[in-house]
Amino acid sequence: MHTGDQLSLTAAHLAVRTLGPATVPSPLAGGLLDRRDTVHYVAETDRVLLDDTLDMAARRRVPTSELPAFEPGGPRLRLFFEPESTRAGVVTCGGLCPGLNNVVRGLVLELYGHYGVTSVTGFRNGYRGLTRAGAKDSLTLTPEGVRGINSQGGTVLGTSRGGQDTVEMVDTLTQRAIDVLFVVGGDGTLRGAQEIADEADRRGIPLAVVGIPKTIDNDIPWIDHSFGFQTAFSRAAESIRAAHTEASSIPDGVGLIKLMGRHSGFIAAYASLASEDVDMVLVPEVPVTLEGEQGLLAHVDRVLDRQGHAVVVVAEGAGQDLFTERPTARDASGNVRLHDIGGLLRERITDHTAAGGRSISLRYVDPGYAIRSVPANPFDSVYCTRLAQAAVHAAMAGRTATVVGRWHGRFVHLPIALATGSRNQVDPSGDLWLSVLESTGQPVPAGRPPTSDARSDLSSEPPGR
Ligand code: F6P
Repeated sequence: MHTGDQLSLTAAHLAVRTLGPATVPSPLAGGLLDRRDTVHYVAETDRVLLDDTLDMAARRRVPTSELPAFEPGGPRLRLFFEPESTRAGVVTCGGLCPGLNNVVRGLVLELYGHYGVTSVTGFRNGYRGLTRAGAKDSLTLTPEGVRGINSQGGTVLGTSRGGQDTVEMVDTLTQRAIDVLFVVGGDGTLRGAQEIADEADRRGIPLAVVGIPKTIDNDIPWIDHSFGFQTAFSRAAESIRAAHTEASSIPDGVGLIKLMGRHSGFIAAYASLASEDVDMVLVPEVPVTLEGEQGLLAHVDRVLDRQGHAVVVVAEGAGQDLFTERPTARDASGNVRLHDIGGLLRERITDHTAAGGRSISLRYVDPGYAIRSVPANPFDSVYCTRLAQAAVHAAMAGRTATVVGRWHGRFVHLPIALATGSRNQVDPSGDLWLSVLESTGQPVPAGRPPTSDARSDLSSEPPGR
């Protein structure tokens, strides 16, 4: 995120919605009273500051008590819901992401094990599972039923893209007498969750809707990172290593790796940094220049001259303006179907080097879905479990239209509107991109301003699910 975006946020932007007073003693209260702070190390009445530098805080020119801050995540002494009579629902939506099953398992174990909630319904295949027809396929989730699912990729609940009629979904939840709904998904899914919470509110139904942000692209703002991202970029780094091995084993070998990342190039940036063998990274946030001394093609020439092989990593959303036609088709989530930048680069690098009299061997690697269909790595497994626990604590305490996340290492509650109001992107003037430039030694063409959200035709897409 850019510093300017952060400075525009006030305390009001960070306030989360609550269904009503929490009056029910928590079954966890005994353990909590023994601690000065909560198990997540921040007392319930404390706040987690948005700004973590003195300069940023000072620039706001407000008293310390008015600094924008998040409500901490973690268990509360008093709950809104009576655990024994609480009925919970879980739905996973959108594209696959490592850790979905860990979140499902974490929710079920926390609900049953710590709160004594004994009714947990899994709605199948994303928001379709909340329609009249889809709800027939729902299943009962139990601790026994979720045993071992965290070693599998994907989601045991199934998933789908696209929204469904909000009124119909709230009808289903009402008929099932669901009190708390956990929604695991990306920005479009979370917008849908907000609509469900708003519709329940209009009907006067005390429904807690709590989101757990999911995206391998890491494009949800105001959280340190989304779950599954680390696993996905680690898997992507393996593909880069394979391409590098291929390219460096033959004369004039070129490894070209295309990675997911529609609007945000975090996977490409992190996987490349992890690999240390990449000579150029192209991300959607930075314009792609092919021609000229500072362009990709001349850089590949120079790298081949110097070391005999070259490795280029491209995020799928990079360089879309190199195509004459603007992409118009959209998927069920409302996402623009992108042009194939990998194919274009493959052609241009091959043609350019051939025209220069060099016969390269180009190894094209597109790991595609393989980076997101794998089980979560140990780091993400821990993160997913803890996010799920934080989500249960938030819901039982009556938070709604709320997302759980981690900010500067601490679990916090965010209003859904904040998490869906902007997009996390690689800042072309930020320290991550600087690290990439330092690591690759790639040229920085002058005169082309960063694209970021200036690619209005792509960024003003309708809410996807
Ligand atoms: O949104 C996450 C993501 O993994 C993107 O990086 C990618 O463009 C998209 O999903 C592809 O998913 P699907 O083919 O399921 O639409």
